[in-house]
Amino acid sequence: MNAQAPRKQLNGKHSPVSLHGTNEEFTSEQATDVAMQDTLLTPRFYTTDFDEMDAIDVSPVRADWDQLIGEMAADPNKGHFKKNADWDQVDWDGMEPELKKEFIDFLISSCTAEFSGCVLYKEMKRRGSNPDVTQLFQLMARDEARHAGFINDALREAGIAVNLGFLTQQKKYTYFRPKFIYYATYLSEKIGYARYITIFRHLQENPDKRFHPIFKWFEEWCNDEFRHGEAFALLMKTDPKLTQGKNVWWIKFFLTAVYGTMWVRDHQRPAFHAALGVDEAWYGQEVFRKTSEMTKQIFPITLDIDHPAWIPTLNKLRDANVQIADGKRAGGLGGRIKQMIGTAKAGMAFARLYMIPSVKHTPPASTMLQPAY
Ligand SMILES: [Fe+2]
Ligand SMILES: [Fe+2]
Repeated sequence: MNAQAPRKQLNGKHSPVSLHGTNEEFTSEQATDVAMQDTLLTPRFYTTDFDEMDAIDVSPVRADWDQLIGEMAADPNKGHFKKNADWDQVDWDGMEPELKKEFIDFLISSCTAEFSGCVLYKEMKRRGSNPDVTQLFQLMARDEARHAGFINDALREAGIAVNLGFLTQQKKYTYFRPKFIYYATYLSEKIGYARYITIFRHLQENPDKRFHPIFKWFEEWCNDEFRHGEAFALLMKTDPKLTQGKNVWWIKFFLTAVYGTMWVRDHQRPAFHAALGVDEAWYGQEVFRKTSEMTKQIFPITLDIDHPAWIPTLNKLRDANVQIADGKRAGGLGGRIKQMIGTAKAGMAFARLYMIPSVKHTPPASTMLQPAY
């Protein structure tokens, strides 16, 4: 199919929203372009060795597995992702332009991340024949489809929609072997839970900062992510090698990459965090703390987020990324040199973060947790 065709159609269907007080317009076409981006910082689509994943035997964790699947099959959030009387009217035209731009970027990136889970889980369900594995992935795909759809509904009110069908066909897929899928996806589910619940609790205490109704949906929403994380913890528990030996270095790599990416991304949205009344550094550390606490259920290490070099080095990583983005915008030879220097600085900052000694733990015999925040 012609890569341009679906986007052309989409443009005809949705009228672009105009950013108040500026000539800038944000269209569905641009939203889909943003979702199509594949950089180190943007959500990706993944593919893996589905046969290897299909061969997982969950017998060693059967009791916990059945309990978790039972909970998911009961579908506690069946009716949750629908707009109801709690969905207040959103004044998109009255929203301050910088906030509007960052909030839309936040929604697009969240929608892409949710949908990325949906695509991967659906594919596992389609390719597999192991009843335990396919049932789990079908239940998780169901949840992620709802999450992505609900965010897209919110975007549609602003006259924007991410073309999810187009993304499925045209976005680049990154291959990760199954163990990397476990580490990356487990972490993204748990950090997703921590992010949603931290914003939800903050806005419970500061309802005047709730500038959009979607935040009211975050509590039940994050419980879905919590259960998805539990499922990946159980999958990893079936094979002790996944969390031992040299794999611990991979775990540390993924922890550092996921935390570092979150820090850099969140600092790109100052107006969004100011509107919520959230300091990005406080929010980052709070989310890392909760995530680290949860990941002790399966990982034998956590990152030392209280180490004196932690925050200063994260800030160096953030500054290096600003430099890369500036270089890209500037273009030409000068821009390319700026990008190269920025990339080298980002690499050094990442290496420094990776070298901070980690904190060791002995994971418990049973991984199962309850959402505690
Ligand atoms: Fe989700
Ligand atoms: Fe999820």
